[in-house]
Amino acid sequence: MNLKKEFIEYFKSKGHVEIPSAPLIPENDPSVLFNTAGMQPLIPYLMGKKHPEGTRLCDYQKCVRLTDLDSIGDKTHHTFFEMLGNWSLGDYFKKESIEYSFEFLTKVLNIPIEKLAVTVFEGNEDIPRDEVSASVWKSLGISEDRIAYLGVDDNFWIAGETGPCGGDTEIFYFRSSEEVPEVFDPEDERWVEIWNNVFMEYQKGEDGKISELSQKNVDTGMGLERVVAVLEGVTDNYETSIWKEIIAKIEDISGKPYKGNETSMRIIADHIRTSVFISADDAGIVPSNTDQGYILRRLIRRAIRHAKKLEIDTNTEFLEEIAKVVIKKYENDYPEIKKNKDIVLNILKNERIKFNKTLEKGLKEFSKVLKQIDGKIINKDIAFKLYDTYGFPIELTKELAEESGLKVDIEGFNEKFRAHQELSRTSSAGKFKGGLASTGEAEVKYHTATHLLNAALKRVINKDVHQKGSNITSERMRFDFSCDHKLTDEEKRNVEELVNDWIREDYPVTVEEMKKTDAVKSGAEAMFLDKYSDIVTVYSIGDVSKEICGGPHVKHTGELGKFKIIKEEASSAGVRRIKAILE
Ligand code: SER
Repeated sequence: MNLKKEFIEYFKSKGHVEIPSAPLIPENDPSVLFNTAGMQPLIPYLMGKKHPEGTRLCDYQKCVRLTDLDSIGDKTHHTFFEMLGNWSLGDYFKKESIEYSFEFLTKVLNIPIEKLAVTVFEGNEDIPRDEVSASVWKSLGISEDRIAYLGVDDNFWIAGETGPCGGDTEIFYFRSSEEVPEVFDPEDERWVEIWNNVFMEYQKGEDGKISELSQKNVDTGMGLERVVAVLEGVTDNYETSIWKEIIAKIEDISGKPYKGNETSMRIIADHIRTSVFISADDAGIVPSNTDQGYILRRLIRRAIRHAKKLEIDTNTEFLEEIAKVVIKKYENDYPEIKKNKDIVLNILKNERIKFNKTLEKGLKEFSKVLKQIDGKIINKDIAFKLYDTYGFPIELTKELAEESGLKVDIEGFNEKFRAHQELSRTSSAGKFKGGLASTGEAEVKYHTATHLLNAALKRVINKDVHQKGSNITSERMRFDFSCDHKLTDEEKRNVEELVNDWIREDYPVTVEEMKKTDAVKSGAEAMFLDKYSDIVTVYSIGDVSKEICGGPHVKHTGELGKFKIIKEEASSAGVRRIKAILE
């Protein structure tokens, strides 16, 4: 059975419109490196903005979560996963949401009701106990004994520190051949959570206060990998049909069986799949030492190191071969994988060749250190040398050390690292925590400024300049664009002047909804065309700029102040980066 297809078909039959997965790299949200949940791109609509596709939506969404990076290698964790989701934006609420989930599980997936149990929110000082959900569950035949009431830690959902949130009801499946106990104990690990229905009717402000949203929403999330494992009756997710061909390829290349080599094979499989998805994203991420690029580098290098453990010859195109299996598996579901296939394979190849040059020597250095070491700690100088000279991400050194029962002076390393690294790296470390930034006034201004900059570059350089990415904080904007040369001083000056002229003209910023095809025909610029559904919003700035974009923007360009380019530098091959501020 194709779970993704069944899920989408079911919710379409209930009046939902399928929307495409948003990109893995969030646009204009500097507070997170990756989309971590299906609801993240929908936040403005949960807050009351009208969604062009209506009030009932469903999708499968690409997600990357890094909190579990250290757990990869076990049976159940993944850095990348797909989340199935259905949403009500101020449409149906608890009753229908629970009924849909129940019907899908018991009628479409044919899961026997005896194997199901649920948790509901027990309430706190702000929000009452969720008797409504409990009574809907009872009306569907879930017995009182199979309903557990839990508190904020378990049954309340928010995507960070602030934003839309609410109590949830979670559905559990009894994953064991043993007899199902009458009474549900959420602590009993044989019960696994398979679906989370969040009732987003509140929002949490900067001050920590909970207030009601203008509409009551539903946001559900079902982890595809886990549910497939349940349906296929295995406890090791990597033994499901999702991973089968990928693991088989690793067995084939290494000439070793999965059994006995599980940890390394799972790490290789997981990390290559995630690397394919990150590098296929239209944001144009390449391995580097900061932000998403650093995560990509770590994933690829860790996969290579584990390939070495399996005695794979890392001078061969093993990484690319495994990636090809991943690409084949996903290219029909995700157009960007098909489109950017060659880019992905190139990125993997280049990083493999780069790391191969130093890996062997680095590992020798590490064994030398092991022999000389006094005590149980790898000191900061050695850790830094492994990083700086041999390209070992600190996490890799830590993993190597742990395998020999040693620790690494991570704090000391970080101090040294910071001293050597530009400040941007330090500030980005905060982003690993996840959570969403509020879109403040300053960010909105910078967002509008990116549109002006995009338009100015096209005029000053040439019309083939396109946006490749952007990153905004309340202090500055960063803008990546395709261009084959370093900008001359004159070009920079002209761009700056043009943007400032447009600001002085105080052009109105207007928005309209139209069909995607019409928007493209009308000449609207779009960075992530695949991301948008059939109806899009188009922002125009006077007659100087027209872009498909979700907003928000200022009303008049005059609000922006003075635009100033701080830096122009290379970002990756054929991509330049401008850092600019508004004064
Ligand atoms: N936002 C919820 C989750 O990530 C449901 O989609 O679990």
